Amino acid sequence: MRIDIITVLPELLRSPFEASILKRAIEKGLVEVHLHNLRDYTNNSYNQVDDYQFGGGAGMVLMIEPIDKCIDKLKSERHYDELIYMTPDGETLNQKMANQLSLKENLIILCGHYKGVDQRVRDWLITKEISIGDYVLSGGELGAAVLCDCIIRLIPGVLSNETSALTDSFQDDLLAPPVYTRPAEYKGMRVPEILLGGHTAKIEAWREEEAYKRTEERRPDLLG
Ligand code: ADE
Repeated sequence: MRIDIITVLPELLRSPFEASILKRAIEKGLVEVHLHNLRDYTNNSYNQVDDYQFGGGAGMVLMIEPIDKCIDKLKSERHYDELIYMTPDGETLNQKMANQLSLKENLIILCGHYKGVDQRVRDWLITKEISIGDYVLSGGELGAAVLCDCIIRLIPGVLSNETSALTDSFQDDLLAPPVYTRPAEYKGMRVPEILLGGHTAKIEAWREEEAYKRTEERRPDLLG
């Protein structure tokens, strides 16, 4: 998979890809992530990427020309499956969307800023609009990092134990059950006895029941 991220703040997006699981996925060649600074696609001496909105009103708007130029260049090099725009009024990200996007070959992610982008970008260039939740970020960069993280960890070979992505919360519309590690007792707090017994079938049944209980308590909406 290849992900191209278009942003006015590439420095905000570097560190998530320089540590841990995402770093290893890149090193293993399972994913390529390329950051593109929108200012490199301007043709004015101020490297201006935004302007006042027509009709007046506070807040700057990202201009269509540098975005179109950047997307044009990328599209001339390969086919893209989706052109994603990160925006609070997009479709809310969930595990199902992440699963579907993890199967794609090439993605472009455009990060919004200020008041957003010229509507013509959204109407003519973008194929999918994604929000990471009902709150407003200062820009799309942190949303893009969240989106990349949850997509990339689903690519086969990225997680060392491939089954572990399948047992995540939400993967089967259930939250994950509680987990414990050593010591078996700490300041009088004991790990559930069943986990110490080594009966795989009983442990599996206990986990399933706990996952169900937790979902019923915290997210009954998931049970439909
Ligand atoms: N940009 C600003 N807020 C956002 C959000 N909630 N999701 C994605 N992109 C955003």
